[in-house]
Amino acid sequence: MPTIKEILQTMDYGPALETTKEAHAWLDGHERRFGLFIDNAWSDASDTFATANPADGVELAQVTQATDADVERAVLAARRAQPGWVALGGHGRAKIMYALSRLLQKHARLFAVLETLDNGKTIRETRDADLPLVARHFYHHAGWAQLQAEEFADFRAVGVIGQIVPWNFPLLMLAWKIAPALAAGNTVVFKPAEYTPLTALLFAELCQRAGVPAGVVNIVTGDGRVGEAIVNHPGIDKIAFTGSTEVGRLIRKATAGSGKKLSLELGGKSPFIVFDDADLDAAVEGLVDSIWFNQGQVCCAGSRLLVQESVYERFIKKVKARMETLRVGSPLDKSSDIGALVDPVQQQRIHGLVESARAEGCEVWQPAGELSTTGSWYLPTLITGASTSAAVAQAEIFGPVLVAMSFRTPAEAVQLANNTVYGLAACVWSESISLALDVVPQIKAGVVWINTANQFDAACGFGGYKESGYGREGGKEGMYEYLTPLSEDARPAAPVVAAKGKVVASDTDSPFAVDRTAKLYIGGKQARPDGAYSRAINGANGAFLADIGEGGRKDIRNAVEAAHKASGWAKATAHNRAQVLYYIAENLAIRADEFAARIAQQTGSTDAAREVAASIERLFYWAAWADKYDGAAHQPPMHGITVALNEPVGVIGIVCPNENPLLGFISLVAPALALGNRVVAVPSEQHPLSAIDLYQVLDTSDLPGGALNIVTGSSDELARTLASHGEIDAVWRHDGSAEGCAEVERLSSESLKRTWTGGAKGRDWFDPKQAGGRVVLQHASQVKNVWIPYGV
Ligand code: NAI
Repeated sequence: MPTIKEILQTMDYGPALETTKEAHAWLDGHERRFGLFIDNAWSDASDTFATANPADGVELAQVTQATDADVERAVLAARRAQPGWVALGGHGRAKIMYALSRLLQKHARLFAVLETLDNGKTIRETRDADLPLVARHFYHHAGWAQLQAEEFADFRAVGVIGQIVPWNFPLLMLAWKIAPALAAGNTVVFKPAEYTPLTALLFAELCQRAGVPAGVVNIVTGDGRVGEAIVNHPGIDKIAFTGSTEVGRLIRKATAGSGKKLSLELGGKSPFIVFDDADLDAAVEGLVDSIWFNQGQVCCAGSRLLVQESVYERFIKKVKARMETLRVGSPLDKSSDIGALVDPVQQQRIHGLVESARAEGCEVWQPAGELSTTGSWYLPTLITGASTSAAVAQAEIFGPVLVAMSFRTPAEAVQLANNTVYGLAACVWSESISLALDVVPQIKAGVVWINTANQFDAACGFGGYKESGYGREGGKEGMYEYLTPLSEDARPAAPVVAAKGKVVASDTDSPFAVDRTAKLYIGGKQARPDGAYSRAINGANGAFLADIGEGGRKDIRNAVEAAHKASGWAKATAHNRAQVLYYIAENLAIRADEFAARIAQQTGSTDAAREVAASIERLFYWAAWADKYDGAAHQPPMHGITVALNEPVGVIGIVCPNENPLLGFISLVAPALALGNRVVAVPSEQHPLSAIDLYQVLDTSDLPGGALNIVTGSSDELARTLASHGEIDAVWRHDGSAEGCAEVERLSSESLKRTWTGGAKGRDWFDPKQAGGRVVLQHASQVKNVWIPYGV
């Protein structure tokens, strides 16, 4: 008698095609020509381009290539509409967003079919994944609009948001972008990808029906030139971008110094790690979801399979067997697993990468299968035998191509997993909860799925580490991306210098016995600057105070190296980090008078004693936060939890302000240390002695060597070096230099490090709102969302 498996293998499916009647009727109703949706009105279609069905290459409609003038109109409309949208209040916005959610649900099938036609992804996915998530996103964010006054009382909307999305999840990315923006009271100028504009245009009609006021949502279509016009428009307050890392870099450069807020969700090369104790059959199913979902055109696709050596052969065999059963075919067929690629360009790109791997000696395996000769298709593909540095193991292929490798130990798995410039997502498969939870914190990725894959929910943040970008979408974390702290508005237009009194001449050495040619502080030790140059620092009365080391490129390199070596600080308990900060405060308090005298000597401030007292309090403040900035346990609609962990960013370079040499330094360095970052700090260029005087305090406060490194010298030079350094994860600059801040942002684009810059404005360092609060903690941390399903 044949087994069930054998029977199943002999069974074939008849085609089960979804009807496209309504979608075509909608297209016909528009005569298959679309203008732009600006200020609640449709412009006439002009300078159009075709959008086609990738499954057969047949044109679906003509869509308008927006001009700069169109973008201008859209931005003006959004600007005009924004105060009214805010004035509606949280409940007013929630009602409209709720109506939008209901309409999306009512028309879900039309959207799903239209998406499948325009993108080539299977109807199974648009119907069962994209559309339910889209509706959920709008519902969830209608809730944030309702709760805004309570939950975000100290924030306001950012203003007008420019949003640019790719083609792989056209409507879902729209929802991820537009829902939080609207909830927070922003208005948007949204650009869908040129390959897939149709569902955004249908969404615009729903906005009209839901009563979204004119100008709140504006949809402009076109290619990258339209994206550029949005990015460069001075009337835009924030850019939210999802797409390739290459364009993300361009956007970072283009917005440098503009003051525009920026969130980037970029590429990935995510590891899918299978330990030998994993449920291998479940892991194979997870892998199917991870790499063959949406033809692998997913930023967080598990495109690198890492399998423990002892089960590698067995697992690969199972993977191949499963690949044989994947059905590549019409996206409209309800039983197709893999649909069409978005465009022949993508097909050629994937083909090129796979063939180069073959030429390098890798084994390329595909199941037998016939592909249609029209449209863009690619068979599921498994590549083995690639070196870790091979292009297929490093580049984002963005297709149904899996690269498999083996590892021996958990440590090697982590090392391989992190061997990429990206850090978007990871999957960990093991039946041992302790093994899985041991590995998770070691993986540098914004999302980790344990024994599951590609789960998303509106309540859970999504976004990357490293070159996968910054900012989060979803949940409360995502809402902050669309909000500006009220304390920002209170900042003075320029740094405020303390009132000067009569300065007492200094005739002796520093009371702290720092010699007259003060050194740098690297790895917990005083170090001579590599260049052996020094600069003279004069006091407020013009008298010479001390020579300080002129730090340079090599000194920053040494400091970064020391900071990386001090990785124990990130692993120290939060309690322990708090203790060290309290201890620094205590030791500073003992010498409060000396520090006050030093501030007065340098700046002439009549307020020096208050600055020292505020510095001590600030240390207490950040010490208090160290063990209280907890993450969250989200409860998405799955049987399990998603744990949002606040992790340190890594090594942060900090350029400190001039005006309050001690308080400014401590206000920036202490929160970074409190959350487990290691710091390379450049103290006030004009008045560095307060930071130099801290060396001795640090030495007696149990701060491990390398956790805080201090390099004195030119703020411009050192900031440039910090921003260009590939091993620094973030740079903060707050010395009131607009050009210097712009340069930091520009240079940061190379390795896509995070930045926090103050621009030309000042900051009242005494004000706990301007120099404290959750916003600073957010700059000092990055959230990792760990999905943990319950049960079997
Ligand atoms: P892309 O990054 O060029 O396009 C994404 C969006 O950015 C589109 O709306 C496009 O019109 C717009 N855009 C292009 N140039 C721009 C510019 N200079 N300024 C502003 N906006 C601009 O991605 P593309 O060309 O569609 O795909 C190329 C490769 O990028 C893919 O093969 C894949 O490897 C990667 N990619 C990654 C995505 C992800 O989610 N991680 C999404 C899309 C692409």
